[in-house]
Amino acid sequence: MSTSHEKVETNIGLMIILILFVVSLGGLTQIVPLFFQDSTTTPIEGLEPYGALELSGRDIYVSEGCYLCHSQMIRPFRAETERYGHYSVAGEFVYDRPFQWGSKRTGPDLHRVGGRYSDEWHRVHLINPRDVVPESVMPAYPWFETTPLDASTIQKKMEVLRVLGHPYTDEQIANAPALLEGKTQLDAMVAYLQGLGIHLKVRR
Ligand code: HEC
Repeated sequence: MSTSHEKVETNIGLMIILILFVVSLGGLTQIVPLFFQDSTTTPIEGLEPYGALELSGRDIYVSEGCYLCHSQMIRPFRAETERYGHYSVAGEFVYDRPFQWGSKRTGPDLHRVGGRYSDEWHRVHLINPRDVVPESVMPAYPWFETTPLDASTIQKKMEVLRVLGHPYTDEQIANAPALLEGKTQLDAMVAYLQGLGIHLKVRR
C-alpha cells in the first residue's frame, strides 16, 4: 500500500502545486507583516510628498530609465556610507511610488545626491555630462532644456497619489499647474535631484 508521501513523490503535478503552496506561504509570512510595521510605513520626520515640480522630474527620471544606471539605495556597509552618506532607511521611501531603488550601478548611487552639487552643475551635467566629468559614459539629455513640462496631467496624478495615502491638500493640487508654468524638463529634473535624500537628520 502506498503512503501519502509516496503519492506526492510520484505525482509531479501534485508536487508542483504543493511546492508553490509552501513557497507562497513562506513568502507571504515575510512580506505581509512589513505592510503593518511602523518602521516601514511611517515617513521619517520632515519628509513631505513630492511637490508638483519634483513629481514631474521624478516621472521623467522613470520614463528616461535613469534607474537602469543609477540606484537609490545606500546599503549599510562602510564602503557605501563613506562614499554616499548615511545608509537608506525605509521611512525615506514612503512617498516613492514606485520606489527607485534599482539594482544596477553603472553610475553612482543617487539617494543622497540632493545638495551635493549646485543647480548649475546639474544643468550642465544633464545637457552634456562630459562638460563637467570628461570621462563620463552617461548619455546627454540636451532636450530637457528645451522641452516644456506638460501640466495637463499633474492634478490627476496628485489625486491618485492622495488616494494611495500621500497627504496632498486641495490647495496643493489646485496650485500644481501654476507651479509648472514656464518650466522645462530640466528645471523639474534638477528640482527632483536636489531633494533626494536630504530629510534624514542623523545624530552623530
Ligand atoms: C548609461 C548609464 C547612465 C544613464 C542611463 C544615466 N546615467 Fe547618470 N551617471 C552615469 C555615470 C557613469 C555617472 C558618473 C560620471 C558622471 O558624473 O557623469 C553618472 C553620474 C550622474 C550624476 C552625478 C552623481 C554624483 O554623485 O556624482 C547624476 C546626478 C546623474 N548621473 C543623474 C542621471 C539622471 C537624472 C539620468 C536620467 C535622465 C541619468 N543619470 C542617466 C551613468 C548613467
